[in-house]
Amino acid sequence: MSNINYSEKIPNNVDLATDRTLQRALEQWQPHYLQWWNDMGPHDFAGNEAYLRTAIGVDAQGWASYGHVKMPDYRWGIFLADKTPDRTIGFGDFMGQPVWQQVPGEFRSQFRRMIVTQGDTEPASVEQQHLLGHTCPSLYDLRNLFQVNVEEGRHLWAMVYLLHAYFGRDGREEAEELLTRHSGDVDKPRILGTFNEPVSDWLSFFCFTYFTDRDGKFQLKSLAESSFDPLARTCRFMLTEEAHHMFVGDTGIARVIKRTLEVMKELGTDDPAAIRRSGAVDLPLLQKYLNFWFSSSLDLFGSEISSNAATTFANGIKGRPDEANFEDHVCKEATFDLDTPTGRESVAMRNAMNEIARVGYVKDCEIGLKRWNMQIKRAGHGTELTLPSTRFRRNIGTWANVPADPQGGILSREDYDRRIGDWLPNEADRAHVKSLMQRVVEPGKMAGWIAAPDRGINNMPADYEYVKLN
Ligand SMILES: [Fe+2]
Ligand SMILES: [Fe+2]
Repeated sequence: MSNINYSEKIPNNVDLATDRTLQRALEQWQPHYLQWWNDMGPHDFAGNEAYLRTAIGVDAQGWASYGHVKMPDYRWGIFLADKTPDRTIGFGDFMGQPVWQQVPGEFRSQFRRMIVTQGDTEPASVEQQHLLGHTCPSLYDLRNLFQVNVEEGRHLWAMVYLLHAYFGRDGREEAEELLTRHSGDVDKPRILGTFNEPVSDWLSFFCFTYFTDRDGKFQLKSLAESSFDPLARTCRFMLTEEAHHMFVGDTGIARVIKRTLEVMKELGTDDPAAIRRSGAVDLPLLQKYLNFWFSSSLDLFGSEISSNAATTFANGIKGRPDEANFEDHVCKEATFDLDTPTGRESVAMRNAMNEIARVGYVKDCEIGLKRWNMQIKRAGHGTELTLPSTRFRRNIGTWANVPADPQGGILSREDYDRRIGDWLPNEADRAHVKSLMQRVVEPGKMAGWIAAPDRGINNMPADYEYVKLN
């Protein structure tokens, strides 16, 4: 047994220093994690110091402590948000009873599957972004990429902690499996579709952090309602970190638009070909990327009508995002109306929980769109970016494989196949985006397709040496 100073090496608020069983499990797992990080995490850059925030506590000072650190030395910690005294179950069949500090035996496999599915997305996204560092548009962006990566690593730790601490041997086995599935792997892919899509350019990265990390926000919000208190508290703390990931996407896309508008002004035209020749991203091209990542992320919520969702709600495993905003927390009699390809259908509310979460998600996605459109309008242009219909390009649920256009109109399969290249990035689009991906690493300098950020990280100047490359 090694002599590790646990609070130093693994910052935590779960009393790791006194829990021998947990120490043993983590000591087994940690070298495998580091091996995974070296193989699948950011390619290169292991020897470079990046200006990163590390969570060393859950209070206002502790959760974001900044400093230059080499990523393999990052202190991945284990934090749960503070306990809410006398917390009771807030929804489902056990509503009003005290929350659970241990997993009830009868719900053990449901909880385990839920934690594994959430946990699987965290390392998946790191794998998807494996090579992005090579083509960073600035040191500021490179730092943000690494921040997102190390925090997704920490989120994996958070889920592995729950598996180790509450699920015994099965939990330890699942924790190992989380390191052996890989994004896009033919034989052992990640569990959910979007997390097997390559993120090989920065436009995709910004869309991913805007749309897919936002799905994460909604899943975490649902799990933060859970009756299993350690899971709820873990997810509540993860949400504080997730906000930055969505900020990276939101401001990343806004900066791309800003630069495009500058180029349009310089050229005096909105002709996509001319904008591309000037080395920027034309707005129709951006729209295609939005279409791709939004539609892909919608599937992550699961089927509109789901008996599985009904069961996890009834059993108090997973609530709705912001459960407190709803009036009826039991939903035994209530119904929900939804659109299906055969018309309007009224279903039991409990069976519609996935759809209710998705509706909230779509609303949240619209906020950025409004801001970006305002930016475009203020520059004197009529183009509006939009979210495609939730019927568009679905692979899961009632709209799966229905040939719908981005406005939600139903087409013949033939028409759909013929026009899909107008709606999603085609080969020429991807080739153009790829051609823009040139590495820029001089402090303060930006690639030609993206504007500088309004401000730096943690009040540092924009030309700060966010990553030390020498
Ligand atoms: Fe995460
Ligand atoms: Fe994230």
